[in-house]
Amino acid sequence: MDRIRIRGGHPLKGEIPISGAKNAALKLMAASLLTAEPLRLANVPRLADVRAMAELLMSFGVTVQVNMGPGLGDGDTMTLQAGEITSVFASYDMVRKMRASFQVLAPLLARQHEAKVSLPGGCAIGARPVGLHLNALEAMGAKIDLAEGYVTATAPGGLKGAEIVFPFVSVGATETAMMAATLAHGTTRIVNAAREPETVDLGQCLIAMGAKMTGLGTGEITIEGVAALHGAEHRVMPDRIEAGTYAIAAAIAGGDVELVGARPDTIASLTALLTRSGAEVTTTDRGVKVHMNGSRPRAADVTTAPYPGFPTDLQAQIMALMTVADGTSVVKEKIFENRFMHVPELARMGADVRIDGDTATVRGVKTLKGAQVMATDLRASVSLVLAGLAAEGETVVGRVYHLDRGFDRLEEKLSRVGADIARISE
Ligand code: UD1
Repeated sequence: MDRIRIRGGHPLKGEIPISGAKNAALKLMAASLLTAEPLRLANVPRLADVRAMAELLMSFGVTVQVNMGPGLGDGDTMTLQAGEITSVFASYDMVRKMRASFQVLAPLLARQHEAKVSLPGGCAIGARPVGLHLNALEAMGAKIDLAEGYVTATAPGGLKGAEIVFPFVSVGATETAMMAATLAHGTTRIVNAAREPETVDLGQCLIAMGAKMTGLGTGEITIEGVAALHGAEHRVMPDRIEAGTYAIAAAIAGGDVELVGARPDTIASLTALLTRSGAEVTTTDRGVKVHMNGSRPRAADVTTAPYPGFPTDLQAQIMALMTVADGTSVVKEKIFENRFMHVPELARMGADVRIDGDTATVRGVKTLKGAQVMATDLRASVSLVLAGLAAEGETVVGRVYHLDRGFDRLEEKLSRVGADIARISE
């Protein structure tokens, strides 16, 4: 199994190209099921999760054609065509690797009026149920059966528009409802909808495919169903979690890094926090620049929340920064339970973190020490890489397949700006 070796203490300098957003790309790919015509996606990131989604879609009869972009920042172009859907079955084996596979349920059901999809696996961060997805589909007239770990959904006459009021914000359930509603009879209103930029990106692609949708980016989305969608071209938005991760890398390692292609509006909650802890963050005509003049970061408190709040997907990374900050920070995780699995690993590197329920109290130490650590989930594993950039000596991160799920050519991007990082394959 591959490992990543980092030798800390090198300030970063230069440019990092930001790839397309994983969490947008996966749903955009699933949206190809909604039409018989080709959906052409540009700026697709090169990730294990993208390959897994392509494989899943191919098992339904979708043809997938990829043209690789030439450079690190170019992204791939992917053309998906679900001319005829030959299967509506997503097996446990396919879905367990990646929770986002569950997002095929709504488009399959909307177009084929039936689907059988395994309940998801994915990151081991809390229970992560799918009740909200199923309630939304039921409200739209689907019959749902749960048996032996599978969801079987049917809607013989097609789905019907409905009013769906979510009790709390769910990105995935909002996207399920959006995709289902595009081909439903009548109008759907989604209340307490997710406002995440990736959800907006999906909505914009659906509109390009002929969907009638308003309210994207607000808490209330209205969709008027149409008889059929058509092909379209869409460029995947830049990955705000990747951009945020490298912004934190610049802050923890010191230096001067331009995140080329990053969209500053999508990382505003992070840049405000980085500024509070002493980084200089500026918007350039190509993205965002982060400058840290070698001084120790200052402690800052952070609480995760739905967009535009601070993203849970950057919580582990910001905690890595706070472990070396001057002072004590309080980090609250309000989206997922059990998302502090990076803490024992950071502690192996000398971090001083105390957990009490959803709250971590981080007392900054002057230096971390390199150690052998283990990746536990996607975002946790990259926080260990960040800690390794700041630590004295050598850090080896095991189980890096977690990283490959969500970070496009991470070692290449970081070594380009001066990090001493390498993959050890065995
Ligand atoms: C998406 C992102 C993930 C991110 C998360 C929150 C993708 C592929 N993944 O995950 O990276 O961390 O948004 O920004 O886009 N919940 C329920 N019932 C449901 C659905 C969700 O209780 O039916 C709960 C979850 O357990 C969690 C909260 O709602 O506590 C938010 O989850 P949700 O927004 O749905 O996250 P995902 O869409 O799974």
